[in-house]
Amino acid sequence: MLERLGLAVMHRLDPERAHGLAIAALKAGLVPGPGPVTSEILRVDLAGLSLPNPVGLAAGFDKNAEAVTALARAGFGFLEVGAATPRPQAGNPKPRLFRLSADRAVINRFGFNNAGMEAITERLAVAYPAAVPIGLNLGANKDSTDRAADFATVLARCGAHVDFATVNVSSPNTERLRELQGRAALQGLLEGVMAARAGLARPIPIFLKIAPDLSDEELAEIAEVALASGIAGIIATNTTLSRDGLASAHRAQAGGLSGAPLFERSTRVLARLYQLTGGAIPLIGVGGVASADQAWEKLRAGASAVQLYSGLVYGGISLAGRIARGLEVRARAEGITNLSEVTGSGVSDWS
Ligand code: FNR
Repeated sequence: MLERLGLAVMHRLDPERAHGLAIAALKAGLVPGPGPVTSEILRVDLAGLSLPNPVGLAAGFDKNAEAVTALARAGFGFLEVGAATPRPQAGNPKPRLFRLSADRAVINRFGFNNAGMEAITERLAVAYPAAVPIGLNLGANKDSTDRAADFATVLARCGAHVDFATVNVSSPNTERLRELQGRAALQGLLEGVMAARAGLARPIPIFLKIAPDLSDEELAEIAEVALASGIAGIIATNTTLSRDGLASAHRAQAGGLSGAPLFERSTRVLARLYQLTGGAIPLIGVGGVASADQAWEKLRAGASAVQLYSGLVYGGISLAGRIARGLEVRARAEGITNLSEVTGSGVSDWS
């Protein structure tokens, strides 16, 4: 009730200001969480990480790792903070975040605004280890002369204070970043990141996050490079540039679209990727998850775990725990003893 009231108030504010208030409230301990939501059914392994439940926070919500301790108690099974770039970066001019309420969607063109890896490392060093596994989304500075090297630089600096890291070459808001998804560029980039990983005292799993707007050929190429590179998993997907079927006034804003309209597109990419990788590495399904049934579909399409962001804008922070509990209820009803049994079970429905 209180949360619904809070959301109604927040939705009257400018979206970026509302988001800042949400982070401040979490940081101040004003958002009571249930603690990690878990059970034998919910606990899953993700590339060697033991997740209390498979419902994670997607990158971009806590860009500067300011609210890790509170978020780890909010019901999520794992968190991803960032994106972090080597140097602090202001991002694009405001406004750069738009609510598309009628479409249950969000458009953002932040452009990797963040406090930089030094400030983020300081915060992670205090918050780590958290109540649930925590990862860092790696990004590149807009004005970098060697963007591929930026990913390895951030990993080398921050890697001791996280459980996993994600190579994000799929943000649409840094010009030409997604060109790093091409074969040669991606190979070189991942080699550098894996070398930085090998240099860590405790080598952590590295994930690759991809865009939803790739052709079948591009996707096949990425799967091949990813498997050869030794990365631990793929996160599918980031926001989309497509604008199909939107009703909201802000639909023509430039940037990446997320939330409900992304669900089907990102789930199809996930299922295709599951077929291409043959289950050799785990996949994390992201895009438009706002209910337990949608999280269940991501698992059926091949995900070992899911992440969400935009759903929180409309459902509140308690959504994560509600989805985890909903997954448990459905698993019990279907006679499933662990959610890993659901992974990939409906891939043909989605590919
Ligand atoms: C994002 N997302 C994102 N992804 C990423 O890899 N690094 C980032 O820094 C950000 N930043 C970011 C900011 C904002 C405001 C939004 C809405 C999204 C993408 C996010 O992690 C996720 O992949 C997509 O939003 C799709 O999931 P949802 O939002 O539909 O659940």
